[in-house]
Amino acid sequence: MSGLDDVIAAETVLSEVDGANGRLVICGQSLDALAGKTSYEGVLSLLLAETVDLDAAGVRVALATARLRAFEEVAHLDPALLSLSITEALRALMARLPDGEDAETALLLIAAPAVFVPAVVRRKAGLGALAPDVNAGHATDMLTMLHGQVPYVEAAAALDTYLVTVSDHGLNASTFAARVVASTRAGYGSAVLAALGALKGPLHGGAPGPVLDMLDAVVRPEHAADWIAGELARGERLMGFGHRIYRVRDPRADALKSALARLGAGGGMDITRLALAEAVETEALKQLHAAKPGRVLETNVEFFTALLLEALGFPREAFTGVFAAGRVGGWVAHAHEQIATGRLIRPQSRYIGPKAA
Ligand code: ACO
Repeated sequence: MSGLDDVIAAETVLSEVDGANGRLVICGQSLDALAGKTSYEGVLSLLLAETVDLDAAGVRVALATARLRAFEEVAHLDPALLSLSITEALRALMARLPDGEDAETALLLIAAPAVFVPAVVRRKAGLGALAPDVNAGHATDMLTMLHGQVPYVEAAAALDTYLVTVSDHGLNASTFAARVVASTRAGYGSAVLAALGALKGPLHGGAPGPVLDMLDAVVRPEHAADWIAGELARGERLMGFGHRIYRVRDPRADALKSALARLGAGGGMDITRLALAEAVETEALKQLHAAKPGRVLETNVEFFTALLLEALGFPREAFTGVFAAGRVGGWVAHAHEQIATGRLIRPQSRYIGPKAA
């Protein structure tokens, strides 16, 4: 009960997570039919059908305009923010955006993380922030703003696959936070900020950076067994494994593993790193299954997210921000859906403290 397991707190047409069968459906289409086959703008046109009502081409134009508007905020980036983590700096920049409940605000909030994350990464590295290109697709432009050059088609396609894959996922912690805040009619901006705060934690969107820390610590495939045994003996959790809903393999892990394969060595994938990751995954699953026979623990989305975003050249501190750049579409769509119910979310607690004298 303390984690609201199995409690249904909303009805949604946005996504369905079938934990028993390892299936994710977004707006009536399975993840298999979307990942690698449609752009982020395409999935937004589905998620935002009730919010902005544009087709994929219309979303592409509107989102590009919104990226330009978001970039105006980068000029006001307080240098003091650069001492914060990338997620904290992103949160501070997102807090500058308006709090309306209209289509323009929705698109601005969705466009902004893809502009702010590369800008903060570059500014922290002592480089200048780069303006968006209104003619580019969202994923291509995010990579161009990060690296200062137009990415290979395969790299842009891999980021697009990632953004689509994480765009929505039922009532996860950050989406629930967005719906709670939206239900108070605080506005989309406040809902997105609350969601970003929830995403930051290592049990939710903060896991992929630590996945790479784990690979760095293991160093070589033949060390995986001992390293993992040591972690589990100390009661540590292995990042990138386990999920509250999935009782089988997270389908998003496979979507991203396929994206990595398509990216290939030419697109930045490091074959040695992938071999190390596969050894760690195999050993982790073996030991987790033995350690927790009553609780099926499988690979989750964060494991291959880490490898994919590393191959695309994002520093690991930026991974949660890149996750936000994808999930923000779902947050806004859920905020809109919650507002449309006209109902404040206000559950009850059961008092178990001392009785009043
Ligand atoms: N490594 C080691 N043990 C684990 C792991 C793990 N990754 N995940 C769960 N367990 C253990 C728990 O310690 C617990 O053991 P216990 O019963 O002896 O106390 C048992 O398995 C059951 O775990 P729960 O806490 O009930 O699982 P829950 O559903 O609450 O947790 C969660 C899900 C938070 C994702 C968990 O699996 C975890 O911490 N994973 C590592 C962090 C991670 O990868 N997060 C990203 C999740 S995906 C996403 O949010 C986008």
